[in-house]
Amino acid sequence: MSEQATQPEQVRKGLEGVVAGETSISDVDGHRCQLIYRGYHIDELIGRASYEEVGYLLLFGALPTRAQLAEWTTQLESQRAMDPPLTAFLQTLPKAAGPMATLRSLVSLMGVLDPSENDTSLESIKRKAVRTIAVIPTLVAAIGRHRAGQPLLSPTPGVGQAATFLYLLHGKEPTPLQARALDAYFILLADHGFNASTFTARTVTGTQSDYYSAITAAVGSLKGPLHGAANRKAMEMLTEIGSVEQIEHYVQRTLADHKRFMGFGHRVYKGADPRAKHLKEIAKRLGESVGETRWFDISERLQEAVWQAKKLYINVDFYSASLLHYLGIPTELFTTMFACARMVGWSAHVLEQAADNRLIRPLALYIGPRELKFVPLDHRK
Ligand code: CMC
Repeated sequence: MSEQATQPEQVRKGLEGVVAGETSISDVDGHRCQLIYRGYHIDELIGRASYEEVGYLLLFGALPTRAQLAEWTTQLESQRAMDPPLTAFLQTLPKAAGPMATLRSLVSLMGVLDPSENDTSLESIKRKAVRTIAVIPTLVAAIGRHRAGQPLLSPTPGVGQAATFLYLLHGKEPTPLQARALDAYFILLADHGFNASTFTARTVTGTQSDYYSAITAAVGSLKGPLHGAANRKAMEMLTEIGSVEQIEHYVQRTLADHKRFMGFGHRVYKGADPRAKHLKEIAKRLGESVGETRWFDISERLQEAVWQAKKLYINVDFYSASLLHYLGIPTELFTTMFACARMVGWSAHVLEQAADNRLIRPLALYIGPRELKFVPLDHRK
C-alpha cells in the first residue's frame, strides 16, 4: 500500500504543532510560556530543590523523601567513576576530536561493554540510566581535560553532580555560588517535552532497541546548531561581537545576511522561554562575582537590540553561554554540558516509551515522479 494516505495540506513540515504522543514527564506550554516537571512549575523548583532531587522527580515520578534522596545520592556517587576501557579509549583520540562526537562514542562504547546491553526490561533500563546519569559529568570533564592535555581526575564522594563536574574539570573545589549556578543550569535543562533529541531517543526505543542506542542517537541529535549546539554558537556570537559598541553593527549585518541570531527564537514558546530569566539572573551573579560583566553586558544589550530589530525572544541557550563561560567551561564543551543536564530527561523518556511502547513510524507524502519506464544501462543518458 502506498504511504500516500495523507493529503498535502495535512503535512506539517518539521512536525510543527503535531502532538506525537503522551508524556507525564514534562509539559512545555508554548502559549502560557511555562515549563512543568511532573506537575511542578520550574519556578517552584529552582533555588529550592537540588539537581539530584529534580533528577529523581523526573526519573521516578515524585520528589524523593529524605531517605530516598540519601539512597539516590549514594547510588550516583558509587557509580561516578569512568570504567578503565572508556578512559583507555578516550586517550587514543586526538585532542582536537569534537567533544560531542567523543561523548557520542563513549556512550555507545558503554553499550558495547555492558553484558546486559540488549536487556530491555524496565529494571535493566533503570539500572543503565542510573549508571549513565552518574557517570556523565565524569565523561564530559574527562573530555575537557583530555582536550587540554591534562591528567584525568577521579570523582570524590560527598558532593553533588554539579560540584563534582566542576572539580573534575578544573581540579579545584568550586565556590558554593559556582556549584549552585551549575546545579540550577542542570535543573533548567533537565527535560523539555518532545524536543528533537528526546524524540530521537523515544523513536529508537520504539523499535525495542537498547538504552545505549537511544542515548547515543540523542547525543547525535543534540549536536546540531538548531538544538544543543546553539549555546556554543551563542558564545561564538558574543565573542565575535566583542563589545557593546559593536552590537548594532552586528545586528544589522546579521539581518542583511539573513542569518540567525543564536540563542533566539523557539518552535514552541510563543513568548519568553521560562528558563531564560533564571539563566540570565545566574549569569549576572556569576559575572559580578568575578568582577567581569562584559559578556553579560553584551548579552543584555544584544537581547534588547534583537528584540527591537526583529521581536525575537531569547531561548534557553542564550544566557547559558555567558553562564557556562563564567564557570570557566571552554566554549567547545558547551553542548556536552547540555547533554549532562538532559541525560536525566532522555532516560526518563526512554523508560516511559519502553513502559508503554508502540513503534513510532509516521507516513511520508511521496512527491517524486511515478510510472517511469526502466531504461537499460547502455541507453541511459
Ligand atoms: N534569528 C533570526 N531569525 C529567526 C530566528 C533567529 N534565531 N529564529 C527564528 N527566526 C525567524 C526566521 O527567520 C523566520 O522568519 P521569516 O518568517 O521572516 O523567514 C521566523 O522567525 C520563523 O522561523 P522558523 O525557522 O520557521 O522557526 P522554527 O520554529 O523552525 O525555528 C528555531 C525554531 C529554534 C530552530 C529557530 O528559532 C532558530 O534557528 N534559532 C536559532 C538557533 C537556536 O537558538 N536554537 C536553540 C533552540 S532552543 C533550545 C534547544 O532546543 O536546543
